[in-house]
Amino acid sequence: MAEPYYLTTAIHYPNGRPHIGHAYETIAADVLARFQRLRGREVRFQTGTDEHGLKMAQKARELGRTPRDLADEMSGYFRELFDKLNISYDRFIRTTEQDHHRASQAIWRAMEANGDLYLDRYEGWYSVRDEAYYDESELIEGEGGEKLSPQGTPVEWTVEESWFFRLSKYQEPLLELYHDNPEFIRPETRRNEVLRFVEGGLRDLSVSRTSFDWGVKVPGAEDHVMYVWVDALTNYLTGVGYPDDGDPLRKFWPADLHLIGKDIVRFHTVYWPAFLMSAGMPVPKAVFAHGFLLNRGQKESKSLGNTTDPGELADRFGVDPLRYFLLREFSFGQDGSWSPEAIVSRNNAELANSFGNLAQRVLSFIAKNCGGTFTATAPVLDVDSALQAKVRQACADELPVAFEKLAFAAGLEAWMQAVFACNAYIDEQAPWALRKTDRARMERVLATLCECIRNLAVAVSPVTPRASERILDALCVPADRRDFAALQGNERADTVRVDSPAPVFPRLELPAEAST
Ligand code: MF3
Repeated sequence: MAEPYYLTTAIHYPNGRPHIGHAYETIAADVLARFQRLRGREVRFQTGTDEHGLKMAQKARELGRTPRDLADEMSGYFRELFDKLNISYDRFIRTTEQDHHRASQAIWRAMEANGDLYLDRYEGWYSVRDEAYYDESELIEGEGGEKLSPQGTPVEWTVEESWFFRLSKYQEPLLELYHDNPEFIRPETRRNEVLRFVEGGLRDLSVSRTSFDWGVKVPGAEDHVMYVWVDALTNYLTGVGYPDDGDPLRKFWPADLHLIGKDIVRFHTVYWPAFLMSAGMPVPKAVFAHGFLLNRGQKESKSLGNTTDPGELADRFGVDPLRYFLLREFSFGQDGSWSPEAIVSRNNAELANSFGNLAQRVLSFIAKNCGGTFTATAPVLDVDSALQAKVRQACADELPVAFEKLAFAAGLEAWMQAVFACNAYIDEQAPWALRKTDRARMERVLATLCECIRNLAVAVSPVTPRASERILDALCVPADRRDFAALQGNERADTVRVDSPAPVFPRLELPAEAST
């Protein structure tokens, strides 16, 4: 039976339109989901939007809209983008959905039953405009000597009743968790940060608010809504049916991987496992934090005027080239800097000129010179089996081993080396010359290349799903020969059939405004 694999991205605040960072994270997760499916696992892949909290309530108020109305519109843009990017999610969750409220209240009750929630007072300076508490030491003085928040907004002394979670109780269990599972937090730098933070001691956490009502109601204390992170994190459980104890909860929980950005590691590796331990649920197997994408070395922001609509990037460069670029260009886990020029040159050098050209040269040659089909009868020479072995090793070994570790760039590098080897082989074997001198040998060379192209197209298909599909279609590869299991062994296909091949990776032009 297929081993289950539950993978999630962070869920995103729909207080604005999606940016390139959202696309990056979701594409990486999708590559992993497709990769694990091709490895034969039963994958469940969840993404979505995080719709409660002050940030949403404030933004809606600023726009004179209700939070729900704002969430409906913006969440739709996220979903549209993910569909455009060919994201194969199994569920797009919205935290305003009813089953999510139910799951959040259930985990709350479980934490309460375990004695980990208590009512106390949250006391401090409060800015209604910011809807935020401030320490006395952070305040600045206004012109008339009045106290102002660091943002310059008025503050008032506020006493608010709040529920607290006994986070302090979980310091030791958390340290044990990190110690027993060195892979729980990756990469290593993030793990070290968390270790230092938890070793420094944990304070109980305020987990409810009474000053606004846009959230999940606290069961039994309906004037409170849950702190947005309590409900947000619970989305991972909602997606597998919590609190219903059966399928899919039993099959898919604990999650295999939460893929997140490096700015929200603490929530996922400190608060979340503590909530779960408190509720008597197993903790996720792993959390991996990716880096930030910089636009020509700078963070994108409205004030710098350098924000990018990721949907437009996909329209301009193509979905598969964009996906390939994002995983190939940067080492996953580190920050990366992108530019249109970098996308174009990566696409042209590797997809258009190398892999695309290989596939197109071979397939159209067969269509033109062999009537689209033949059966190779000439013996297999050492050069042929050496090439096949190299390609198979890259596609069935090196790339999967790297992808398992989320080392996407390294996996694609191994794949690219195999593409180069195929192109070198064509140049050496020169099938166009053999056409006149030794047709049987020409067919053997072409059959060898077709088998290599099949391997290459399958291995890269998590990254470039549409292009791979078109190449495999043109090669008439049956559905059951398109996964990693079908790259094992040494079998050869002597009979080749090619059906109307068309180029799949066009060369891209440098954008006019940037090439001058
Ligand atoms: N919305 C949060 C953010 O963008 C992420 C929430 S992830 C989850 O920073 F854990 F809460 F799901």
